[in-house]
Amino acid sequence: MTHFLSIEELSAKRINRLIDLAIELKAERKNGGHKKLPLKGQTWAMIFTKSSTRTRVSFEVGVRELGGSIMFLSSNDIQLGRGEPIKDTARVLGRMVHGAIIRTFDQQDVVDFANYSAIPTINALTDDAHPCQILADLLTIKERLGGWEGKKVAFVGDGFNNMSRSWMWAAKELGFELCIAAPQGCLPTEQYVERLQAPNVSITTDPIEAVKDAQVINTDVWLSMGEEGQKEKEKLFGDYQVNQELLQHACASHIVLHCLPAYRGKEITERVLEAHADSIFQQAENRLHAQKAVLCRLADGGQTFRGMFG
Ligand code: CP
Ligand code: NVA
Repeated sequence: MTHFLSIEELSAKRINRLIDLAIELKAERKNGGHKKLPLKGQTWAMIFTKSSTRTRVSFEVGVRELGGSIMFLSSNDIQLGRGEPIKDTARVLGRMVHGAIIRTFDQQDVVDFANYSAIPTINALTDDAHPCQILADLLTIKERLGGWEGKKVAFVGDGFNNMSRSWMWAAKELGFELCIAAPQGCLPTEQYVERLQAPNVSITTDPIEAVKDAQVINTDVWLSMGEEGQKEKEKLFGDYQVNQELLQHACASHIVLHCLPAYRGKEITERVLEAHADSIFQQAENRLHAQKAVLCRLADGGQTFRGMFG
């Protein structure tokens, strides 16, 4: 594992190892700090073309707590924002920093950055994938429910955004039942479903069918970053709100997850969000622990954690 660009590239074994390491690092942090500092002497760069609260803060804290230093580069402030190609940016940074964390639109940009820079590269969200978030979500399910084996996970909202796509690949690899409910026009394409090849993933336009007996109910914004102002798209989601009424169909002991930021009154009600704030903010905190596991794995080719990664 040299980069972390999409959950699609990870085997179940790798996902499980990262989550086990995240659990270890979380406990270590609570007990006074980390014994090993695999990022000591390293400088990492974050290049962000989109806004961020959780991702930015968790990486800044995570890199520092693992012994490294980190710089935040908004694409507005660097030449990338004035049209310098990603491959040139990559070749410059690749000679100066030890790793890069990138948030942008096009998945191909993070792939190109990884290839041209030859330094460990982490996808901090693209239009296609949000691998850091899905890792934190899985960690939260493991902590809250003991694991995902035999569980049903529902995703209600945009069935073809970065989060629903990440859930589909996680379900394929880990084998849990996933049901995505989305309106016509926001469903995964037939081609995508064919490429996924996952009989345990089902797609419906009926939110009740998705939520029925589910232990985990997930949602995300109706309009992702870059889609602001798409009023016609937003109108499609009228029946896809996670509210008390919908949750009556879920398993009695369900949890609700939301990657945040949340738009109350749209994809989730204030009441549901506040009733499930414990799991939702645990999920947000878990970004820090999950990403630290990724950083440890990438920082020195896994040497410090040889035992964990084989
Ligand atoms: N969930 C998430 O990625 O949040 P930010 O956009 O605040 O980083
Ligand atoms: N789908 C959302 C996720 C935000 C963390 C977006 O891309 O804006």
